[in-house]
Amino acid sequence: MLTQRLPDHVTAMIDWYYDTLPGARFAAELHALRAAGEIVPVRALGGEMPVHYILSHRALADAFRDGEHFPPGHAYQIISLPFIGETFMSMNEDRHRQWRPPMTPSFKRSAVDRMDQHRLAAIGHALLDELEGLDTVDLVAEFTRRYAFRVICDQLGLPIEDERHYYQWSMDLMFGGRDLEASRAADQRITAIAQPVFEARRREARDDQISRWVHGTSVAGEEITDASILAHIRLFFTAGATTTSDAMSNLFHALLTHPDAWRQCVEEPASQAGAIQELLRWNPPVAAQPRFTRPDREVSVAGVTIPPNSAVLFGIAAANRDPEVFGDPDRFDIGRGSATLLTFGPGLRTCPGMHLAQKNLSTALRIVAERFPRLRLAPGAAVEPEGILLRGTNALPVSLR
Ligand code: HEM
Repeated sequence: MLTQRLPDHVTAMIDWYYDTLPGARFAAELHALRAAGEIVPVRALGGEMPVHYILSHRALADAFRDGEHFPPGHAYQIISLPFIGETFMSMNEDRHRQWRPPMTPSFKRSAVDRMDQHRLAAIGHALLDELEGLDTVDLVAEFTRRYAFRVICDQLGLPIEDERHYYQWSMDLMFGGRDLEASRAADQRITAIAQPVFEARRREARDDQISRWVHGTSVAGEEITDASILAHIRLFFTAGATTTSDAMSNLFHALLTHPDAWRQCVEEPASQAGAIQELLRWNPPVAAQPRFTRPDREVSVAGVTIPPNSAVLFGIAAANRDPEVFGDPDRFDIGRGSATLLTFGPGLRTCPGMHLAQKNLSTALRIVAERFPRLRLAPGAAVEPEGILLRGTNALPVSLR
């Protein structure tokens, strides 16, 4: 049973789903929880819902791999299926195993390695061309969000005319439980864009994922219907593009608030890989992942018994700052070197987009450092990453020269 006694301000004040905990406050609150144990009780949904927060690297690595007691499909049936539709993510393990490979061919390491090595850079350069001659811009609105969605749209075969709305629509879909109206409206807009593309690709195939899906892919005898393709587009917008965009925004925020690290990335491009790894540890865009225990089974993790049917948070950001694993964990240190990150969720559901995400980050950092080496936060810019489940930087006003 849970016996920890938490400081009252921790249990009473914070909604561990929906509060924002900007900047350094997030890590401070996680360390306050950690003082009470590896797995601690917190509350979410305005205090209505008790949740077990897994904080330690050791306990989280075990929990991610324990699909028996923390079935991922079950969690996604609750948090994602009502808003995204049925995808391989919300399927139970047998069907998940059959559906995931044919739905993610463009994102596998081999496919990402085979991608035209200039394609990602070309997408990034086209956006940076628009910034030439300007002094101050919002790097999130003008670059990171558009870049992430352009890459996904390029792979799927979707148009980018409405790209400036794609991030917000995806967030509205993902947090549909908070605002059903907004979620439905976002769904209608995305459907209206995607459906004509299905028709067009049926008439004439192109070298994109939608063409491959509409031209006869079936999985274990189940046809991939338009409804299923639409659900997977919603999945790649939400799980794929918003996460990449937030990681990229957090990366530039981290580097520009640590100007020595930025300078090092500009002067020694070989240090850029370390900066990306450190960002993925220090401020991961998927900060916590909801799971639920089975309705009929309790589970014991790190000496704590979690009852059946309990809400659990897999604390990725917390584990990435576990002082047992990472020395001086709150320091952003791009020379830290390799370590076992839980950022992409090890185990049954390891992120299928992790190679693409890392290639996106390294391309974006390389070309921005080459073209705008004097990049810095605009005077007076007071922006910080925020969010407890998904963590991003909503705006990043920068001076380009
Ligand atoms: C830095 C960027 C990214 C991060 C930090 C990230 C992180 C994660 C995490 C933590 C999971 C959950 C694993 C679990 O439930 O055990 C996940 C799953 C997933 N991610 Fe990513 N992701 C990123 C980018 C992407 C991209 C670029 C794509 C696709 C293009 C993608 C597609 C998915 C999908 C489809 C799943 C569900 C996997 C399954 O259920 O089998 N992600 N990701």
